[in-house]
Amino acid sequence: MCGIIGYTPTRTDHHSNRDILNVLMDGLSDLEYRGYDSAGVAIANASVSVYKRNGELSELEEMVPNGPIDGYAGIGHTRWSTHGPPSDENAHPHTDCDGSVAVVHNGIIENYRVLRDELEAAGHEFDSETDTEVIPHLIETSLEQGADIETAFRRAIDRLNGSFAVAAVFSGSEAVYATRNQSPLVLGIGDDGYHLASDVPAFLEYTDQVVYLQDDQFAKLSPAGVEISDKRGTVVDMPVKTVEWDPEEAGKSGYDHYMLKEINEQPRAIRNCIRGRTDEMAGTVSIDELDGIDRPKRIHLVSCGTSYHASLYAARLFRAGGIPATAFYASEYDAGAVPIDGDTLVIGVTQSGETADTLGALRDANRRGAETLAVTNVVGSSASRETDHVMYIRAGPEISVAATKTFASQQVALAMLSSTLTDECSREFVEGLRALPDQIQSILDQSRATEIADVYANSDAYFVIGRGYSAPVALEGALKMKEITYKHAEGFPGGELKHGPLALVTERTPVIAIVTGESNAEEMIGNMKEVEAREAPVIAVTDSPDVVENYADHILRIPQTAWQFTPILANVQLQLLAYWTANQLGRSIDKPRNLAKSVTVK
Ligand code: M6R
Repeated sequence: MCGIIGYTPTRTDHHSNRDILNVLMDGLSDLEYRGYDSAGVAIANASVSVYKRNGELSELEEMVPNGPIDGYAGIGHTRWSTHGPPSDENAHPHTDCDGSVAVVHNGIIENYRVLRDELEAAGHEFDSETDTEVIPHLIETSLEQGADIETAFRRAIDRLNGSFAVAAVFSGSEAVYATRNQSPLVLGIGDDGYHLASDVPAFLEYTDQVVYLQDDQFAKLSPAGVEISDKRGTVVDMPVKTVEWDPEEAGKSGYDHYMLKEINEQPRAIRNCIRGRTDEMAGTVSIDELDGIDRPKRIHLVSCGTSYHASLYAARLFRAGGIPATAFYASEYDAGAVPIDGDTLVIGVTQSGETADTLGALRDANRRGAETLAVTNVVGSSASRETDHVMYIRAGPEISVAATKTFASQQVALAMLSSTLTDECSREFVEGLRALPDQIQSILDQSRATEIADVYANSDAYFVIGRGYSAPVALEGALKMKEITYKHAEGFPGGELKHGPLALVTERTPVIAIVTGESNAEEMIGNMKEVEAREAPVIAVTDSPDVVENYADHILRIPQTAWQFTPILANVQLQLLAYWTANQLGRSIDKPRNLAKSVTVK
């Protein structure tokens, strides 16, 4: 998804300034993970200088001046195309007719066609096919009518329908003006200047003091400070929060890819997730954030992608504990067609807390009177603010588009949530939880996924099968594989193999079988024999190697643990297999083609 960055230094005697261009370019590089196809910056001085390019950030770097640029304030953008293909013209920032206003925008302006027709009829000339470009022209119209900058900005925003985060700079002005509606924007209060961005890592190296802008609020970042006001222009006092993530955590720390770093961070992420929430002696879990939530009559989990797979896992746990629970794709959640009332707990599972479909489902549930809970990683995210309750998974920043450590933390958080709401906690459960970080570490230290990936990197497709609690992890393993290797991969319950997918199994389609515990080994061995008979290579991910060794070509071992947690361990091997396969194929692992980290449009 698109990324916004903005910066105003506190001092305008340019020699003492942090170089605006550097701050913007660093921020854009930190936002690359969100996915983009073009990038640009605008710096305001007596005039506004705009630099923008289709392609990677390196293309823009070649275009911008070498060395510092004098400027009062600047904005930047990484674009993920919606209206108009990737091109230099469609890249942001966009300007008005005489280039004195520059605007960057995330989201979608639903009524842009009507606005554009109106502006063109009034003589405005457009350079791009984007919806965004109507904003600088609307601002220009008001400025020509004598409005001051702030009024012109507000009037333009007032004309927009849709979801957006917008930032603008003006020739001769020292301020960045910004606003948001259903698209994230966070402000950073630094010693040397004021920042704004779509996501905290974009300015984390300068400050950990942040303000989360709310829908319909306006921000003016000037050397004098940050002023936040509501729609009517009344100044509002917003809390400044300290972000606990450190810049090192948001960097690559010597790994070739964020994804590998984040896979390796899972032991720490899980320790953080359970910290202060368990009592091993008593065999209990207690989650402060759940105070005030009673055992619901039913649970709906709404989520997308990897978070949906965590939800499928959790739904099983809730059902096992006696609470009817269903996981829905957020985009398919039609609260009108399912029973929902004040006894229904609707849980939005979302790493970013900004996924448009998940937010849409949560809002719908809210309107219908359900109690809502966000299980998210991002403090201050839209999901955390719009729900009745929030439980943080505490995984730390995840930069790679492919979700890894956040999936593990979601599973752990949801397992704890389920044990609390169903009252099914036990000493074995708590011991299992506490052992997880070391067990994951042992997998990371000993996995043979690299060798296996080398052997099968050129396969035609991959199938991943599991049963019971491991079935969601089979789906997740296949999603990870397709996402970063660009190879076809499909996950399904082992029992489904004969009902269609078997037709595709050949000697060029490795089948990865998750065999956990002797209880499901017999049926899984049946599946392994079926695919072996079609000459498919079989890779078993298992805690029972002795049981499956005669039926598998390769074994990826996981330690034995409480039944709830085997899928979490199995998934680590699947992550490594996907990572090393993509690495062998030379793929763009952290930023897979066509994908974005946080999908903030429906
Ligand atoms: O931020 P969310 O957890 O709401 O994101 C949902 C999906 O877009 C996300 O899990 C996606 O499937 C992953 N990038 C896959 O690795």
